[in-house]
Amino acid sequence: MSSVYHIPVLLKESIDGLNIVQGGTYADVTFGGGGHSREILNRLDEQGRLFGFDQDADAEQNIPQEDARFTFVRSNFRYLWNFMRYYGVEELDGVLADLGVSSHHFDTEDRGFSFRFDAPLDMRMNAREGQTAADVLNNYDEEQLANIFYLYGELRDSRRLAQAIAKARASRPFRTTNDLLEATRPLFVRDKEKKEVTKLFQALRIEVNHEMDALRDMLLAATDLLRPGGRLVVLTYHSLEDRLVKNLMKTGNVEGQHKQDFFGNQLCPFRLIGKVIIPSAEEQQSNPRSRSAKLRIAEKTESKD
Ligand SMILES: C[S@@+](CC[C@H](N)C(=O)[O-])C[C@H]1O[C@@H](n2cnc3c(N)ncnc32)[C@H](O)[C@@H]1O
Repeated sequence: MSSVYHIPVLLKESIDGLNIVQGGTYADVTFGGGGHSREILNRLDEQGRLFGFDQDADAEQNIPQEDARFTFVRSNFRYLWNFMRYYGVEELDGVLADLGVSSHHFDTEDRGFSFRFDAPLDMRMNAREGQTAADVLNNYDEEQLANIFYLYGELRDSRRLAQAIAKARASRPFRTTNDLLEATRPLFVRDKEKKEVTKLFQALRIEVNHEMDALRDMLLAATDLLRPGGRLVVLTYHSLEDRLVKNLMKTGNVEGQHKQDFFGNQLCPFRLIGKVIIPSAEEQQSNPRSRSAKLRIAEKTESKD
């Protein structure tokens, strides 16, 4: 296992984007290695508060010690609204989301996120509940599998992949990452193999963790909780999640439907702050995980009705 849990991506740019106010209340909904959270705490005064969410118990090892301003919430971020109510927080000054999995997930051999290791096909961020990647591969019908590969992996050969999986599991259920590689490798062109397998693993991980549903719920909760002037800062790593975030920031809903008032003025609870930011060539070089990152920042403009 790597000794570095996770290197935060676009650290300065994302925390600058939160525009931290003294005494403010913030949520880092993807705590992970705590790199972004630590920087928020560095910039926050004694009266400020930070809630760090992570659904993975492993993230607890990174909780800042003896900092009364910080509360760790071991939960899926889709319950952001419920937990804020539970803690008596009515409004937030900023919400930060750095989506997806951490380097820790890819580097921990037995969790099944990486095809670098032969490991049980698990891929759950919350290892205490839900179906594993093996469950998905062994139980979904061929059409469901093809849809997942096409939608979440943007794999053009999704139907043939699903067919190959259905054929392989008829003789022996899938258990390990190598089982999956063996069944699907013949379908990949040699020079594109690594890219395609990465997409296949990404698609399964998104399905196992219901990532798109959780993201939708969290974005709507954040929209509701942010005070006027509060900031929403989101780092995405693939086009599907980026589309939802972009839609929300431009229209106030994840479908991207523009709403108008009686007079034809566009209604949107956000104002975009700057353009989408991507990591510098230097950051991409030193932290390959940052290569697909996109940072979007928006400010809440409306008060709640
Ligand atoms: C990219 S890492 C965040 C890294 C963090 N910003 C840092 O500086 O170390 C994403 C983290 O969010 C967690 N996560 C992803 N989706 C989640 C969800 N729906 N609910 C709660 N935690 C989630 C993962 O377990 C992972 O630890």
